[in-house]
Amino acid sequence: MERPGRVENKVAIVTGAGSTPGPGIGTGKAIAVVLAREGASVLLVDRYPERAAETAKMIADEGGTAEVWQADVTTADGCESMVRAAVDAFGTLDILVNNVGLAALGTVVDTTEDAWDRALDLNLRSAFLASKFAVPVLAGKGGGAIVNIASISALRGDGTVAYSAAKGGLIALTVDMAYSHGRQGIRVNAVAPGHITTPMVHSVSAPGPRAEFMDRMRAEAGLLGTPGTGWDVAWATTFLASDEARWITGVTLPVESGVLSVVPLLMAQHLRGVPEPS
Ligand SMILES: NC(=O)c1ccc[n+]([C@@H]2O[C@H](COP(=O)([O-])OP(=O)(O)OC[C@H]3O[C@@H](n4cnc5c(N)ncnc54)[C@H](O)[C@@H]3O)[C@@H](O)[C@H]2O)c1
Repeated sequence: MERPGRVENKVAIVTGAGSTPGPGIGTGKAIAVVLAREGASVLLVDRYPERAAETAKMIADEGGTAEVWQADVTTADGCESMVRAAVDAFGTLDILVNNVGLAALGTVVDTTEDAWDRALDLNLRSAFLASKFAVPVLAGKGGGAIVNIASISALRGDGTVAYSAAKGGLIALTVDMAYSHGRQGIRVNAVAPGHITTPMVHSVSAPGPRAEFMDRMRAEAGLLGTPGTGWDVAWATTFLASDEARWITGVTLPVESGVLSVVPLLMAQHLRGVPEPS
């Protein structure tokens, strides 16, 4: 007997539903594909429509339903039009996934004010604005689910001060929205990915021994010793977006192979075992 999808007949918006070009899959693209596989109609929002179009093709090839929508989600206009587009295309809205984001290295000393503002705009303001326009629609129909894609960088130091602060803000936004909109039937949760490997991660270093070394180190840093991908984030997000999580709100679910559950000293033996590139 065929089971219904976990988000059957729901309408979802995924921001950053394209993926930086390259091998592997970004979190937004994977989230959109899994939501569609599980029965949702998905509005694929991206600043670069050609990226979202690749996601749309992947979904169409599997027989799912999706439409591409070009928007810059750091702007109020972009977010308002995106929510309207979902309702126009699919008649309603049930799920918003605030996935857009990008890490940037830097300490408080060397991060410029511009870089700080860009990180806060992309990683935090985008979720604030998207939610501002999505919440009234969700409240108007009796509820829905919002999932914010944060990062373990919000919880542990890694030299990305603006990104970390923005993702920490995103977790705080999650908790506050869960409080403010719980009685409207809106659940708000976050997923905090760890050292996953996505095309965006690969795009910052040329393919070769150094990139392979870093892939192995990312895998060995976790308790499971295996690599994580955008799909791992997608399954967690789909769970939180689905009615299976109907009594879960205000939480941040780490998807990180247990790196937050160990003192770093004990992982040295595994990390030492990875041969340095020559
Ligand atoms: N890759 C990792 O290791 C990792 C770890 C922790 C958290 N995350 C989080 O996962 C999310 C996605 O990461 P990814 O590696 O899949 O990135 P990605 O770059 O592959 O995908 C992000 C997509 O967002 C789009 N985008 C960028 N700015 C936009 C804007 N202003 N408006 C609309 N779309 C825009 C991009 O075009 C791209 O298609 C981010 O929030 C990131 O912080 C990633």
